[in-house]
Amino acid sequence: MSETQNPVPRPNDQRAVGAVIVLAAGGGTRMKSSRSKLLHEVCGHSMLSYAVNAATALEPEHLVVVVGHLREQVAEHLHEIAPHCRTAVQDDQNGTGHAVQCGLVDLGQVSGEVVVTYGDVPMLSGETLAELVASHRASEDAITVLTAEVEDPTGYGRIVRDDDGLVARIVEHKDADEATRQITEINSGIYVFDADVLQDGLGRISTDNEQNELYLTDVLGIARSGGRRVGAYQIVDHWQTEGVNDRVQLAKMNREMNRRICEKWMQAGVTIVDSEHTWIHESVDLAPDVTILPGTSLEGATSVASGATIGPDTTLVDVEVGPGATVIRTHGSLAVIGENATVGPFAYLRPGTVLGANGKIGAFVETKNARIGTGAKVPHLSYAGDAIIDADANIGAGTIFANFDGNNKWHTHVGKGAFIGSNSVLVAPVDIGDGGYVAAGSTVTEDVDPGTLAVARGRQKNSTGWVTRRKPGSKADLAAGAAQDYHPHDDVAADRAKQKGDPQ
Ligand code: UD1
Ligand code: CA
Repeated sequence: MSETQNPVPRPNDQRAVGAVIVLAAGGGTRMKSSRSKLLHEVCGHSMLSYAVNAATALEPEHLVVVVGHLREQVAEHLHEIAPHCRTAVQDDQNGTGHAVQCGLVDLGQVSGEVVVTYGDVPMLSGETLAELVASHRASEDAITVLTAEVEDPTGYGRIVRDDDGLVARIVEHKDADEATRQITEINSGIYVFDADVLQDGLGRISTDNEQNELYLTDVLGIARSGGRRVGAYQIVDHWQTEGVNDRVQLAKMNREMNRRICEKWMQAGVTIVDSEHTWIHESVDLAPDVTILPGTSLEGATSVASGATIGPDTTLVDVEVGPGATVIRTHGSLAVIGENATVGPFAYLRPGTVLGANGKIGAFVETKNARIGTGAKVPHLSYAGDAIIDADANIGAGTIFANFDGNNKWHTHVGKGAFIGSNSVLVAPVDIGDGGYVAAGSTVTEDVDPGTLAVARGRQKNSTGWVTRRKPGSKADLAAGAAQDYHPHDDVAADRAKQKGDPQ
């Protein structure tokens, strides 16, 4: 194999390419999925979205995605993520050459260059495509193919070079003889064509090959026969040319992309204690001095501000975490966590949860559509749904905001500095005024004025001697019999002395 030298790009060449054609019509049968292969995700985004983003970065005059297999699914997804893309239909997958023909049908006469790329190569970057185009322009070749040296070239088209180091042709694995199969420089399937050379070549290709397909790769040999030059741009980062055909490759791709994302954030000042067990989506934003503990998954539009600690074992989807907050063993989505607030362990933050600065959502607490003010606390074993909890309010252990009456959902408001005793039920709609108190074990169905104590539970009644009468000889009876001269435990007595008439 000849030593390859990528041509030096010419600076400041801002000409737009005529078209990018993204091939995405193939079956993806090895995924064994009812969903199109292209919709399967790598680090939180569909494979197709990466392909389209890379293509869009070139700012081409036309961007066409060729769809075929499960094309309604693919077209619908494309409409969501990239409405600026056109689609072209390839009904039968007669090969990559046929696919490009289909992609060009609606474009008429394309000027300049046509870039061809695949929908299932998620790591390929816009920068690489731009380098490929720059290299193409610098070399003044009619076609430039993106190639890679790989250890195992099985299955790929092989790059056959001539004595000048130009590309003579590409030979598909199935069509290759033993000598050609020894070549380890492979065709990535990504190219820049001068538009006229492509149009001309596509008019001449045939299905005279092992797979009875129209090979796009044959256009290169045809161009050479017509006296045109064909070059290669070799990429070192082979991941960028790697496709995904089954779920094993999908997992490998996820791991590699995640490794790169974690590394990027570590370089940017984020501590990731165990990056092999931390998953960060492409779309997540992290500040310097964030710490991420093992088992954490940060997804969607999640952002974490400086000094916050997330994990272990936490999943946040579209969650905004403020500076200095800690979030331990928590599952959260569409929530906001304020500065220096604390969440978890074992908290479940559902959409619409907004926790203020210095606030707390503690162990085994579920929240939904709940605005919890500055310094307010829901520390233990509670459900707060459709709730507004103002600053510095304290919600006792086991409190339930009963927001659903079987038909409708209703709101509860707890005012500033209010105190809800443990194991209370606040039956919505209900309003507890600022500084209001609710006695432990209450079921509150009526509003409580500011500064008022609500006791909504049965009064305590003590039946003296009940155990001896009803459970004679039981362990309790024996213990009671031994407990002459009853007086409360020292700790309780001490608390009582401190309380001085507090009704709690
Ligand atoms: C093709 C290349 C091969 C290269 C390899 C890189 C040809 C003839 N061969 O191999 O040199 O090493 O890619 O992966 O071009 N597609 C369509 N319509 C079709 C056929 C394919 O849209 O009729 C799309 C597929 O969805 C896929 C891409 O084109 O995204 C490549 O198709 P695939 O069958 O995987 O590649 P090969 O033809 O095996
Ligand atoms: Ca492939």
